[in-house]
Amino acid sequence: MATDAALDQQEFRKALATFTTGVTIITGMAPDGTPVGVTANSFNSVSLDPPLVLWSLAKSSRSLAAFDASPYWAVHILSADQDALSNRFAKSGADKFVDLPVETGAGGAPLLAGCAARLQCKTTFKYEGGDHIIFVGEVVGLDRSGVPPLVFHGGKYAVATAKTDALAFSDGAVYDAESSFTENFSGYLLARAHFQFYSQLRAHIEGAGLSDSEYFVLSVLIIKEGRSIASLNALFSYTGHAITPALVAQLAAKGLVRTDGAGVDALCYLTADGRTTTVRLIVAAKAVEADMMAKFGEWETVSLKNLLKQFILHTDPGLAHPWSA
Ligand SMILES: Cc1cc2nc3c(=O)[nH]c(=O)nc-3n(C[C@H](O)[C@H](O)[C@H](O)COP(=O)(O)O)c2cc1C
Repeated sequence: MATDAALDQQEFRKALATFTTGVTIITGMAPDGTPVGVTANSFNSVSLDPPLVLWSLAKSSRSLAAFDASPYWAVHILSADQDALSNRFAKSGADKFVDLPVETGAGGAPLLAGCAARLQCKTTFKYEGGDHIIFVGEVVGLDRSGVPPLVFHGGKYAVATAKTDALAFSDGAVYDAESSFTENFSGYLLARAHFQFYSQLRAHIEGAGLSDSEYFVLSVLIIKEGRSIASLNALFSYTGHAITPALVAQLAAKGLVRTDGAGVDALCYLTADGRTTTVRLIVAAKAVEADMMAKFGEWETVSLKNLLKQFILHTDPGLAHPWSA
């Protein structure tokens, strides 16, 4: 381990880069009314009571004079999709605010939109910190959006995901992300997740006296009615469930669907009873989903849905889409 007094600059930077941070943009208003802003990952919390935070600004920064002269500044904790905004405010001198919608915060500091959180601050201390000035400020106002934050690690932008411990199944088997192929095979994981999740819905579907195929038909008719039996069948071809005139006749006999026409070209509509039954099932399905997602963090829920959408996109052989077909 290098402890030499003449520290290698490169090594120092590389060692610091292993420390993972969020990314902020600090904005302020110069006394002449010019807005200033810099990207900073030196931000940190200092004290809860009083509420104090700090950040440090390079003495070479063109914004230094403005931050030095005006006591108010706003910290924008950037959200995961604001890396372009971070880059914009990391370029020295350019007119960083062009075309950006801003509100006015305490002391005139511009407030940017779409952040994970914003803290409006008033300078309480300033310290010399080598080639930087350390600003300590009292937080006088804040807001928080709940969107996931942007992360900076090893000189690159990243996103944060929670680290999960090995998961134990009910039979005592332990799922370890690094273990054997079968347990870690995405096909197995997707299938098991689907069937376990769907079995909770099935209780409601069976409770309504319906088969899975019948439920599928109702669930897309509520999105759009007047679909032909052939188009319903095309929608569900990937599931292995056939939507046939006989199946639709069953739904009609139950008083849930009415048809117009004959054979696979017959157009299908929900009856009033069909609509009520479907809405009830959708409410139940959403409750099952909400129960499930409550066990996840907000960011994990967003990540899961994004990853599933990507999975669907990259494996889509060109299927019809229930919301557009
Ligand atoms: C992720 C990231 C973090 C940064 N953190 C800081 C910081 O904490 N302090 C600082 O002075 N500059 C930091 N910078 C560099 C400034 O954003 C950059 O020098 C800025 O352009 C200064 O603007 P100005 O000269 O117009 O004031 C960072 C840049 C990036 C990309």
